[in-house]
Amino acid sequence: MSIPASSHPVSPSRARRRAAWLLLCAALSAPWAVSAETLPAPAALHRQLLAQGHKAQAVTVVEPHLSSKDQPVQRRYLAYPVEAVLSATLGPSWQAQPDRELEFKALDGFVARMPVARFLKYRAYLAVGLADGQPFTVDNLAQGEKRVALGPYYLIWDNLSAPTLQAEGGTHWPYQVAEISLRAVNPEALLPSGMDSGRWAEHAALAQTYCLSCHQINGFGGAKMPLNLAVRAKLIDARTWQSWLLQPQSVKPGTAMPALPDGLSAAERQRIASQLHDYLKALPVAP
Ligand code: HEC
Repeated sequence: MSIPASSHPVSPSRARRRAAWLLLCAALSAPWAVSAETLPAPAALHRQLLAQGHKAQAVTVVEPHLSSKDQPVQRRYLAYPVEAVLSATLGPSWQAQPDRELEFKALDGFVARMPVARFLKYRAYLAVGLADGQPFTVDNLAQGEKRVALGPYYLIWDNLSAPTLQAEGGTHWPYQVAEISLRAVNPEALLPSGMDSGRWAEHAALAQTYCLSCHQINGFGGAKMPLNLAVRAKLIDARTWQSWLLQPQSVKPGTAMPALPDGLSAAERQRIASQLHDYLKALPVAP
């Protein structure tokens, strides 16, 4: 199966297909959506934020897409504090329910979801460029992609003040962000009634953290590689499963499927991989 590369510019037919796809996604995810906002173009956002006293600032981070566990690479971005952007687009009440999730949707179908609580705990920024004016791109080492466009917006985290974030890799750093929304957590797709939520909630959260930015579970998740993991996991034996999650390049050289972050310990990566397999095998496939 191939995935749409995140190339620019977008052809008209591709734009139409994308529009149809977004409509479909909106229809499917409507029950959980509270509010979805398409972000204004950077120049318009800049004017809007400036009027409220916020300016873009230079923010230095360890860039996870360029870094490995032993070789952290720092970069300086030009960025707005994310809480200012969220208050301007979703309204100040976005902070009111820490157990809701913020969803960042990218132009290529990649979706990142994170609990509101994470934004209250750590400092995040929405980057609009590099501080030195170089092209706003990055090499994505984990996915073997070069000079990936980051704009219009790129969510970055102050992981110099919070080094624990450095172990997570790029999972929570969506780029080409075009839309932000606020939604309820743990939809029926991930923990259908009848499934013991006490036993599986943590597993479902792992899938959300590490997999659902690109894949789906019963229609919920990202569209970068819209594969229903609840179906596929049941067809893959434990060994192949571990290889796909820990060393995807050994199963399919050149694949864009990233390994679980190498900032986690080997034991932890193995544990997460088998927990995900157990959960996905137990999860009923939605009709
Ligand atoms: C950044 C996007 C991305 C993330 C995150 C991601 N994957 Fe993938 N995954 C892919 C892509 C792209 C492929 C297609 C690989 C190919 O065919 O080259 C893939 C392929 C797979 C396959 C193989 C499917 C087959 O062909 O049988 C499995 C299994 C899989 N992913 C599971 C997972 C699981 C489980 C997670 C979470 C731990 C995950 N993926 C996270 C992008 C992603």
